[in-house]
Amino acid sequence: MDRKQHLVRLGAGVVAGLGAAAIAWTGVAANAEEPAADDFEAKVVGGQPAAEGQYPWLVAVGDAGSGDPYERRFCGGSVIAEDVVLTAAHCVDEADPDDLVVFSGSVDLESDDIVETAVTDLHIAHDYDEPVELANDWALLRLDDALDVEPVEMGTDPEEFDVLETAGWGETGTGFPTVARWVEVPFVSDDDCEAAYPGEVDPQTMLCAGDLENGGVDSCGGDSGGPIMAPGDDGLILVGIVSWGYGCAQPGNPGVYAELADFNGAIDDVLEDWD
Ligand code: ARG
Repeated sequence: MDRKQHLVRLGAGVVAGLGAAAIAWTGVAANAEEPAADDFEAKVVGGQPAAEGQYPWLVAVGDAGSGDPYERRFCGGSVIAEDVVLTAAHCVDEADPDDLVVFSGSVDLESDDIVETAVTDLHIAHDYDEPVELANDWALLRLDDALDVEPVEMGTDPEEFDVLETAGWGETGTGFPTVARWVEVPFVSDDDCEAAYPGEVDPQTMLCAGDLENGGVDSCGGDSGGPIMAPGDDGLILVGIVSWGYGCAQPGNPGVYAELADFNGAIDDVLEDWD
């Protein structure tokens, strides 16, 4: 049985050094069948490389210090105001702002266009981990400088959508990519998600997505904090944050995401406070 994986401080050496061990740890099914190619824009796990500008608000959260962005990055995030990034609480709940930086400006962590920005303030959801483990898995990072990035539009109720999409630099099944990847993931109802993970899902603060029947498409270790998005009238809308799952891309084990609609108001309160 794959263990629930949500600890992601896959920093530098870990990403670089673990190789096969990291794959086992993140629980990517070794026997994952290729998803039926025509089901979803296959393969994150099952995705494809993001194009430059496809998700301008997608950023990487990493450790402050020196060294390659690729090696310092450990989570994803979304720009929601010119100097504020939304990420997962479990990515940063043990960090000080000084420990953290945000990489923006390119989908390719090796690009010369990558901009590194310091973090000056950190807000962890007050009710993080309540009423169940990993409930309210959101946090805000206030940046030292405004980013030259159009913030993402914030979310409505995802249940009106069949197919969502998620993106990040997390585990693909064969390692961690330098270029962010994206994948389409079918929306999974609260009922089906609670049945998949009895007692572990708080339907109020979590939403689920994945191909329940076939698996093959999912976010994975290292994608945490990054966006899950739905099509809106004028482009994509942020509806959630990559949070947890058992293994990755396995049939019956959907990805679980923090559900933005539930804490949109609480985010606004923090933004007002920081203004
Ligand atoms: N916990 C992982 C992270 O911290 C994200 C896991 C998402 N898992 C999944 N099966 N969708 O990076």
